[in-house]
Amino acid sequence: MSYPYQIKTLDAYKKAYEESVNNPEKFWAAVAENFVWRKKWDKVLSWDFKDYNVKWFEGAKLNITENCLDRHLEKNGNTPAIIWESNNPEEPHRVLTYKELHFKVMQFANVLKNNGVKKGDRVCIYMSMIPELAIAVLACARIGAIHSVIFGGFSAKAIADRLDDAKAEFIVTSDGGYRGAKNIPLKSVIDDALVENKTVKRVIVFTRTRTPVSMIKGRDVWWEDEIKKVEAQGNPDFPAVEMDAEDILFILYTSGSTGKPKGVVHTTAGYMIWANYTFVNVFQYQQGQVHFCTADIGWITGHSYIVYGPLSAGATSLMFEGIPTYPDAGRFWDVVDKHKVNILYTAPTAIRSLMGFGLEYVNGKNLSSLQVLGSVGEPINEEAWQWLYKNIGKEKIPIVDTWWQTETGGIMISNLAGVTPQKPSYATLPLPGVQLVLVDEKGDEIKDSHVQGNLCIKAPWLGIIRTTYGDHERCKQTYFSTYKNLYFTGDGSYRDKDGNYRITGRVDDVLNVSGHRIGTAEVENAINMHAGVIESAVVGYPHDIKGQGIYAYVIFDNTHGDPNLSKQDIIQTVSRIIGAIAKPDKIQFVPGLPKTRSGKIMRRILRKIAEGDTNNLGDTSALLDPSVVDVIKEGKIK
Ligand code: WTA
Repeated sequence: MSYPYQIKTLDAYKKAYEESVNNPEKFWAAVAENFVWRKKWDKVLSWDFKDYNVKWFEGAKLNITENCLDRHLEKNGNTPAIIWESNNPEEPHRVLTYKELHFKVMQFANVLKNNGVKKGDRVCIYMSMIPELAIAVLACARIGAIHSVIFGGFSAKAIADRLDDAKAEFIVTSDGGYRGAKNIPLKSVIDDALVENKTVKRVIVFTRTRTPVSMIKGRDVWWEDEIKKVEAQGNPDFPAVEMDAEDILFILYTSGSTGKPKGVVHTTAGYMIWANYTFVNVFQYQQGQVHFCTADIGWITGHSYIVYGPLSAGATSLMFEGIPTYPDAGRFWDVVDKHKVNILYTAPTAIRSLMGFGLEYVNGKNLSSLQVLGSVGEPINEEAWQWLYKNIGKEKIPIVDTWWQTETGGIMISNLAGVTPQKPSYATLPLPGVQLVLVDEKGDEIKDSHVQGNLCIKAPWLGIIRTTYGDHERCKQTYFSTYKNLYFTGDGSYRDKDGNYRITGRVDDVLNVSGHRIGTAEVENAINMHAGVIESAVVGYPHDIKGQGIYAYVIFDNTHGDPNLSKQDIIQTVSRIIGAIAKPDKIQFVPGLPKTRSGKIMRRILRKIAEGDTNNLGDTSALLDPSVVDVIKEGKIK
């Protein structure tokens, strides 16, 4: 495949950017010509940020899997679409060519259909990183069902809430999943999630770990048995269901500053082109290269840069079941060496953790296939950037620092590998179509350079969130009400004199722990479920490996024994309610929380104490009881 819209020079970038701003409809219509449509659009774009409404390519008809699979069959049918590397280095890897993946997706679309799945139905997918996860995602897209992938680290309670919110009727899972030394009992977690569920009719279970599972008659079926039935039916074809450009492709739940996760909705055409366009341009993908994105498909990064971006570009996408440190800290480099990986897209937290193990795990591995390195999920600190640049890239290959969000569908700010300048710890420049503004607290645009502000976007891009599932008002409130006529990212940013952006982190109550978004209110709600907890407040603090750690201040009814045991109980509670990813790193029992006279917790103070900056707490005169601050300071957990 060739990509006529691939930007190859700095001047071409500047020109493309200008055109995308001056004449977005013309610009994106030209890009859209490179995709497969059943019917072309009547109108490229209509939008309004006030009542929030965005439509791209209205009137167009397509199916994203025809773009990700069918269109590659003739010329690239034998090209590997997915190379899969097991958690266990001894287990043979798997390769699925475009032809094979196409066949398997059609087969599984037939399974879905046989089990009653129709266009528009919500299918929840809870699996580990095996090719069948990608197959299930694509099969949903083929039939027009809405997939909602839930990361394998979420607990039964977290899944139950998401199933309810999406009113999901179907689940695809596996018996268990391997992740490092762990074997996660996925089906059993699903069983717990279904105890009070009223909507789910069918659970399809793939065999991965051969863990014993309970299969409920009438509800649960085995993936393998269902495939046999399709084989017996004789006709494996499954013509793609025609979708409107703005039909929902998927829901993906993410955390915000309230306690309840939001179902971010992405639709078909705009998302597809955005994932593809950003993939082809940021990584400068060349046909034949092996692209290795280390994210999990349970997060947006996996959706856009393991599945939809690469496959719509006819690329080879490497999917890895394991973790960077299993069986040892050289695993990434073994995978790069073994599969001759050309592009490695990973997260700062992984880099920082590997740095700690030393170079003996890197030396001796052949990394000469690498041509582009990428980072996503949180600000990459200069030290991690330099380590990556020197030891992995051997000072020869570009690093793209890509800033974006679940809500943006694809990369928004990044250098284009080898094409536009890179600058350590800067995501650098916006992609075509991305119109950034920095605003001050009042919402006034800050036009100068060398400034810091809240990062907003003033016009829609192709991959913008369309709604929060089932609650459009919430979408309006969350993203479009803080500043008039602007999409607010929730991030702060600095801009240098050349217009480069350096993201400084969230300015709302959202934490970024190992690149995972976690709302402080969600963690507080979970802690408060523990019978002994009276009240709690959660803040982030700098953590060497995770980026941010979770610090919980808890007022505890501590009359029943050992406080350390009680802290373990609280951690257990959070694991049950959200999942292990949200476990507090530090818990401090406190007699009270610093509150204003109107009862509002002053988190600024708690944040400072957690950061260890106790001499600089600012004005505490508004507090109802300033003495509580001294007690909290004294009890700070080191
Ligand atoms: C943060 C992940 C700095 C940011 C794709 C954002 C980053 C949140 C970067 C979204 C980056 C992501 N530099 N910060 N390159 N990439 N972030 O929804 O705070 O899981 O708002 O999407 O991650 O996290 P999400």
